[in-house]
Amino acid sequence: MNDAIDFDRYDRIRPIRWTGQALELLDQRKLPFAVEYVSCADSDEVAAAIHALTVRGAPAIGIAAAWGAVLAARAVEAADGAQALAAIEPALQRLNAARPTAVNLAWALARMRRALDGAGADWREVLEREAQAIAEEDLAANRRMGALGAALIEPGRGVLTHCNTGSLATAGFGTALGVIRAGVAQGRIERVFAGETRPWLQGARLTVWELEQDGIAPTLIADSAASHLMKSGQVGWVIVGADRICANGDTANKIGTYQLAIAARHHGVKFMVVAPSSTVDMATASGELIEIEERDPAELFAVGGARTAAERVGAWNPVFDVTPHELIDAIVTERGVIERPDAAAMREAFSAG
Ligand code: MRU
Repeated sequence: MNDAIDFDRYDRIRPIRWTGQALELLDQRKLPFAVEYVSCADSDEVAAAIHALTVRGAPAIGIAAAWGAVLAARAVEAADGAQALAAIEPALQRLNAARPTAVNLAWALARMRRALDGAGADWREVLEREAQAIAEEDLAANRRMGALGAALIEPGRGVLTHCNTGSLATAGFGTALGVIRAGVAQGRIERVFAGETRPWLQGARLTVWELEQDGIAPTLIADSAASHLMKSGQVGWVIVGADRICANGDTANKIGTYQLAIAARHHGVKFMVVAPSSTVDMATASGELIEIEERDPAELFAVGGARTAAERVGAWNPVFDVTPHELIDAIVTERGVIERPDAAAMREAFSAG
């Protein structure tokens, strides 16, 4: 087994590109059938793209929002950062309101506000440098988590992942998918199972496509096949990302994650959450306090534009759920691994901010 990871070989996609004038986003609504970037010229276009899932995944929407703040600043005249901040605050609030569950959005905007508040006449450059730093730190965190998480995996079995947590959802390399990339590169993971992730199909459309770019051949399963897969003994870990990790370790992630954690515990399969510290929200004590986004029920009525449900049916479409910390074996951040997370372990790891 070779523990060195060739990061560039296993990381070829960049969903967010800053041109110096505009923000280009790889349109994730169209993947895998078209690889097209859309250009956002102002912050409201960025907010609309976040809401529409053109760009998605907790770290990626934080990074996109940071560039949205840069675009908002282009439209104002101000003598210093504090003046500029007052002028763009309404635009920052519209960016923040684009999606409610992933804390990375509010985290990135808070960081942009802080940078701006202390800036002088060069506030435009300060703001742009901060957005760049947020993206670069995310990529570095993902690579670090890849190595930390992969080291937990005993060679010889497969893993199951959910949603898309890869380069598409981050600045690059990915969180849970970064651990999987690293685990495959090191020969620890025999087979990668990806759940479809109904209704938006992040697993079927995005994770499968993304892994194929790296030459990793995933095995797609219906979400409803997960317990059966675990019972078969083919997977040793379920590895997922997070949209918000609370002060007690409770974790919000894509709908369906909670049922995977329950099934994993029942079958003796281990459960790993991988997320940068920008996803940790120590101000929220526990999972029931997290706002869970509910999207248009129409997402449930059709697949690929073809209607699958009878006409006039009602539907409920929460797109995240909360996994209680008791069901999580390890939380991996760039700061280290927290095994059996609870409030005390989270405090010890994150109380310094
Ligand atoms: O609705 P999405 O596609 O933005 O949801 C994404 C997820 O739930 C991911 O698992 C999470 O954001 C982590 S991405 C590294």
